[in-house]
Amino acid sequence: MTNQEIQADRIALIELNNPPVNSLGIQLRRHIVELIRAAEDDPQVAAIVIVGKDKAFSAGADVAEFGTPMQFEEPMLRTVIESIDACRKPVVAAISGVALGGGLELALACHARVALASARLGTPEIQLGLIPGSGATQKLPRLMRPERALAMMLSGQPLTAVQLSESGLLDRVVEQDLVDAASTLALDLARQNMTLLRARDRTVNAAAVDQAVADASAKLNRRQLAQPAYLALMDAVKSSALPFAVGMQRERELFLTLMKSSEAAALRYQFRVERESSKLPASMHAAPRAFGHVAVIGAGTMGSGIAIAALESGLQVTMLEQSPDALAQGRARIDQYFAARVKAGKLDAGRADGIFARLATTLDWAALKSVDVVVEAVFEDLAVKQSVFRMVDQHARVGAVLATNTSYLDIDAIASVVSRPHDVVGLHFFSPANVMKLLEVVQGKASAPDVMATGMALGKHLKKIPILCGNAFGFIGNRIYNAYRKQCEFMLEDGAWPEEIDKALADFGFAMGPFAVADLSGLDIAWRMRKANASTRDPRERYVSILDSLCEIGRLGRKAQAGYYTYVDGKQQAVTDEVVRVIIERAGIARGITRAPLQAEVIQRRAMLAMVNEAALLFAEGVAHRAGDIDVVLVNGYGLPAWVGGPIHWARSQTRSSLAHELDQLIESNGFGAVRATPHMLSSLLD
Ligand code: NAI
Repeated sequence: MTNQEIQADRIALIELNNPPVNSLGIQLRRHIVELIRAAEDDPQVAAIVIVGKDKAFSAGADVAEFGTPMQFEEPMLRTVIESIDACRKPVVAAISGVALGGGLELALACHARVALASARLGTPEIQLGLIPGSGATQKLPRLMRPERALAMMLSGQPLTAVQLSESGLLDRVVEQDLVDAASTLALDLARQNMTLLRARDRTVNAAAVDQAVADASAKLNRRQLAQPAYLALMDAVKSSALPFAVGMQRERELFLTLMKSSEAAALRYQFRVERESSKLPASMHAAPRAFGHVAVIGAGTMGSGIAIAALESGLQVTMLEQSPDALAQGRARIDQYFAARVKAGKLDAGRADGIFARLATTLDWAALKSVDVVVEAVFEDLAVKQSVFRMVDQHARVGAVLATNTSYLDIDAIASVVSRPHDVVGLHFFSPANVMKLLEVVQGKASAPDVMATGMALGKHLKKIPILCGNAFGFIGNRIYNAYRKQCEFMLEDGAWPEEIDKALADFGFAMGPFAVADLSGLDIAWRMRKANASTRDPRERYVSILDSLCEIGRLGRKAQAGYYTYVDGKQQAVTDEVVRVIIERAGIARGITRAPLQAEVIQRRAMLAMVNEAALLFAEGVAHRAGDIDVVLVNGYGLPAWVGGPIHWARSQTRSSLAHELDQLIESNGFGAVRATPHMLSSLLD
């Protein structure tokens, strides 16, 4: 676990050794305390250096211990820290790799800190709905300028030792010979033979702390205010102006309250399911094919976004269009994006030149002969996509992966026109494709395992969260979103106005309500699809015609200044127009419904239940391979925040019997044509 050697120079070197990242599990905590005591008692030892073995100093708490008794088993990190605090001999942290969370707090307990220039230090707790719980909120404002300390804890992102070199957090930053530098400093401290200055003993500038907290509190956005950890962090940092022990006590209380919060539980769950989601089932364990050169067909909204993502990740990109105008427009979108990054100082001009050198644009299909992966992003029309795939089949090299970005079309129908359907896969990006993390990797009936593995590997390379999906209408995300949207339309007929539904769902946690989203994306896309599907629709289905009626009078959404809402100078009006209300009322009357107002909680539950029902159905069909994948999709692609969690996480927090009962009621209200997930399906999803 840890090794200790007494060096000739009278340094006791404590090496943290808990691969892969020296997380502070109970065994490692115990060892540190024992070794500190032993070194302190050993007259041969003048000073102590703590260093991490291999790549990390320590990445902090052991997440696997969260929620288990081990997390609270003594010595807890605070006790480890106290044993260093109480040590009469100098203790110096020698930091390489990462010092994160509890790992940084361990370093803060030391009397001095020396870091390799490449080391990264930070407090990621806020990303798990927590605040640092072992002193960082009290010590960082004592070592650094309070506003800087607060910014570091608020962002949760690590900073490099170089970025922190003048901050007060580090005593020395070195390019090499870390242990030597730390030992020299430790012996210097020992020789000086004076009372050791610990971070906790430093004075804090109370006025500066108050100012920093006031400034940062004023800047908290809606997203942050919805999570208790942000306000708790303000409270804890403010308490650093109090006597140290009082501040520590406050930090502890806040930490323990957050540990029990529903937000932290959801974030922990989300962290776990996102990590699991990249693991492919055994049937797909195959080495990925090459993907260094990607062709994007169609330079529209999605094509140019996909090209940007590929370019940013270092790939070579060839973009192909049907007309010079469309190609020029796509190219201009890409140029503008990178020019804006350069202007904002986020990309240096040299790197931008390198990126442009990797981009080729063409109208010539022969350019496909050297590419590894083709991503088709042309119009959402089966005939158009099939004609594109025929061309791709003629020109792409043997072994190239042929991907489609279709949102709803059948991957097998697309694959049926090529001579190599095993090379075809769905890569469903979300808009804007260079920003959104989610990528649905859709398996057709012929898709080869190494083609699926390539889709997943390419997704990871693009820094996306790739989710394996079966080939069914709407895959995972759009299918569940459709069920949710339909339920919201039912609620319009039943008695709620769009603004009431939108508000209830935004209050629940959705980034936007469904009708504001519909207006933003434009109602005409759905209108066209509804018309195309009219002939195959089950006549018993409860079909809500409000959207069609809005489109018929030109209310196509935000772009037309009118949809469910009216927009004045682009600003959404709070209440729906009388004309929209009349359309909604008529739809209800036509169905024989007596409108009755719906409480916000009823709206929220009906929307979530509709999602859970659809999730159970698609899980039973094998469209999702793991229940957790469904939440990963909803959180990363559909505006459900991670601290609220997806429908599976929500359903697991409900009483099972009432869930089943409410689902029965819901399906009854949906009328004929709706399918109720069976209790068995529900248990396979939630157990
Ligand atoms: P878009 O209309 O912005 O772009 C499509 C582009 O394809 C146009 O520039 C067009 O000139 C080009 N194109 C059409 N036929 C072509 C051909 N035969 N050869 C070469 N280029 C051709 O459409 P958008 O929004 O980019 O969508 C593209 C695909 O991505 C669709 O399948 C859509 O369902 C899917 N998608 C769209 C999302 C969105 O939010 N817009 C989200 C996820 C997927």
